[in-house]
Amino acid sequence: MLHGRHILLIMSGGIAAYKAQLLIRLIQRAGGTVQAILTESATEFVSPLTVSALSGRPALTELFDLTQESEIGHIELSRSADLIVVAPATANLLAKLAHGLADDLASTCLLATDTPIMAAPAMNVRMWEAAATRRNMTVLRDDGVIVVGPDEGDMACGEYGPGRMAEPEAILEAIEAHFQGADGAKPLAGRHVIVTSGPTREPIDPVRYISNASSGKQGTAIAEALAAQGARVSFVTGPAEYANPRGCEVIRVTTAREMDAAVGAALPADVAVFCAAVADWHVTNPAQIKIKKDSGGNPPLLDFAPNPDILKRIAALEPGGRPELVIGFAAETGDLEARAREKFAAKGCDWLLANDVSAERGVFGGDATEIVFFDASGHTSWGAMAKTAVAQRLAQKIAAHFR
Ligand code: CTP
Repeated sequence: MLHGRHILLIMSGGIAAYKAQLLIRLIQRAGGTVQAILTESATEFVSPLTVSALSGRPALTELFDLTQESEIGHIELSRSADLIVVAPATANLLAKLAHGLADDLASTCLLATDTPIMAAPAMNVRMWEAAATRRNMTVLRDDGVIVVGPDEGDMACGEYGPGRMAEPEAILEAIEAHFQGADGAKPLAGRHVIVTSGPTREPIDPVRYISNASSGKQGTAIAEALAAQGARVSFVTGPAEYANPRGCEVIRVTTAREMDAAVGAALPADVAVFCAAVADWHVTNPAQIKIKKDSGGNPPLLDFAPNPDILKRIAALEPGGRPELVIGFAAETGDLEARAREKFAAKGCDWLLANDVSAERGVFGGDATEIVFFDASGHTSWGAMAKTAVAQRLAQKIAAHFR
């Protein structure tokens, strides 16, 4: 994927610098070459010697290293790269980049270039959430810097939250997606994707219903990420707080049976992502008028019948009618791996993203989750990450599948 691509990797000082060393290997395995620059504080975490050995080129550290300056020059250094990747990107280096400061080799290269820049932030959760960092990230995104991560999880400093550098594999996927996008057509251009999202609602009477706490945040993020990769997205959503993904056709439904019909009507598709929290049952005898609390003295008796399992039905379609990639989610409350494995086998989908939605994890309605990803070759943990990062990673995986 990265044959002939030269990456300038700028490592700034943070414990994640050790993880960034793996990125060098991953880029090389994908066919690319890497020139590394270490900020002074990065050298406190990783040794320039190790980075030089890994990259096969002397890792550069000093702006005023006269030999290097005369041989290469920082301007040439940054211009000869196809992409500059800052990983880890500390709050300090991001602040310098946002404000145009250039007081060492890393920041000078970043300022002296028109090469696209990708940054993988890594910092303590409070630094990430600080008003100054948030302002700087807005400026950087507006300037066109591609931001990957950060993930959420336990931090080296003992705290928990967003701020952990994205995994090297995820950064590699973002690099590949960048070049794919830059190479003309977006990777999913011409592909049709159906995404289901949000809860469904099953009426009991004209004003009451059975539903669940799904906010639609994850489905919306996935639909937007796929649209950004060029896909035509049919977004089939139940009544959710988040139901307006940019660049997608939105199809609103209420019940599971309506969602099933809407998915069927949206076929054919290349990919179907089932992110909705579908009610498994509907009330067979909903009242036509509001049930009165004193009608007969007893609580109403509700009869239930199973709803169609939309994911299972679509996964079982014959080749030709079945989307090439059928992707499900599993919402579990405990014993995640074992239950998700059973669900993966039972549903007949190609990929399954499992997450624990126990109340104390705050996944329903929250910004973050922790995914275990299943495919035919086994399962991998993606770790805790923002739902937007899950969406990016999934979209990049789908794009990679169709390459
Ligand atoms: N799903 C679906 N139609 C249903 C139920 C679920 O399409 N009637 C899809 C969901 O969108 C998700 C996957 O199936 O992709 C798993 O949903 P989940 O709620 O985790 O599991 P269920 O199949 O409902 O099983 P259980 O409630 O027993 O865990």
